[in-house]
Formats: sequence, structure tokens, C-alpha cells
Amino acid sequence: MHFFLDSADIEEIRKAVRWGVIDGVTTNPSLVAKSGGRDFHGLVREIAALVNGPVSAEVTSLDPEGMVAQGRELSAIAPNVAVKVPMGRDGMTACSRLAREGVKVNVTLVFTPQQALLAAAAGASFVSPFVGRLDDIGEDGIGLVGDIADAFAMGDITTRIIAASIRHPRHVIEAAMAGADIATVPLAVLEKCFDHPLTASGIKRFLADWEEYGKENGR
Ligand code: G3P
Repeated sequence: MHFFLDSADIEEIRKAVRWGVIDGVTTNPSLVAKSGGRDFHGLVREIAALVNGPVSAEVTSLDPEGMVAQGRELSAIAPNVAVKVPMGRDGMTACSRLAREGVKVNVTLVFTPQQALLAAAAGASFVSPFVGRLDDIGEDGIGLVGDIADAFAMGDITTRIIAASIRHPRHVIEAAMAGADIATVPLAVLEKCFDHPLTASGIKRFLADWEEYGKENGR
């Protein structure tokens, strides 16, 4: 499973890119709004230059024509921009048109396997089930990822599953085990995935032993 960073914050993205573990970035209007009032297209351009993999940028129009027009503009920013459209009749109309033009589409706000199948049928390259938001209302977010993965495998569907709305490191491993192709994670969750107290104490002990060895051997 690949990691994407769920962020529109340039400094966060730079930090995660430096670690060499992320293959893409996802943004949404809420994340962009938090990123400091920058020009949206300029922000997408900068993010797309920082990462090699797909950068999802979301449309905000509510009608298919508007979504297609925004999607064309966003995808023209850089070859690695994927256009995020919301699940729904209008979203799928826009998705199928953009996909026919060769634009990579990420269908967002997916909460059922049926919605994921519709997104795939509309030519989506990515589908984003929202794990945390389902858990928040007492439903099973990871179960949804598993159901989509099973349905896609049965139908030889190549649309990639991005487990989104990831809230903690358990979600990351559970999404991988459920068959997600990608987990898009906030920086805080990514940071937590690196750490374990035994890793930290292990490094400390290795260095202490190495120093002792140096003393004994007169180095
Ligand atoms: O980018 C979509 C998704 O990851 C949002 O997550 O935490 O707002 O539910 P959250």
C-alpha cells in the first residue's frame, strides 16, 4: 500500500517528501481554506512540482458543466494533477466526461460500495472511501474499504482505492489489510507511524555499545 499526504500545507508536504515515503498528495476545499488564503491554482502548481505522484485538487462547482470546466483547468496545471469530484449524479456525469478526455479523476465522499462501483463505471482512476467519518457515526469505515476491494477484485476493476479520512495509525494498517491501494494520511498520523519506544531505546543502546567498543579498542 502506498502513502499519500492529506494536506494542502506546503511546509508539511515538503517535510513528508523529504522522508521519501509519500507517493502523492490529496487536498480538499477545507484543507485549502486552512492553508493560508493562497491562490488555489498557484498552490496546486507548487504542490504538483514537489511530488512525482498524483496530486488531487477538488472542484467546487455543483453542476456538471462547471465541474468539467474546473476539472479541465486543474488538470492543465500539471500532468500529475488528478481532479477530485464528489460522488453523485452530477459528479459522475463530470467524471465520465473528464475521464473520456484522459483526465485522472478521484471520486470523493464515497460511503458505500455501490457508490464506489458507480465511480469505477464512470471511469474514475481513484475512489476515496472516508473511513473516519463513517466510524464517527458508528459505522465501519474499514469494512467499507474491504467491501470495495472485494467488489473491485471480483470485477477486475482497476480503479485504485484511496482510504481517506484516516484518523490514527490503526486505520493505516487496517486499510492496508482490507485491500486499499493507498492511504491518504494527515501529517500527524504519518508522524505517529514512524515511532515506537523500542525503536528509540534500541538506537540508544546500539550507540552506547558502539561507544563502549570504541573505548575498549582505543578509538
Ligand atoms: O481528503 C479527504 C479526507 O481525508 C478528509 O478527512 O478527517 O476531514 O474526515 P476528514
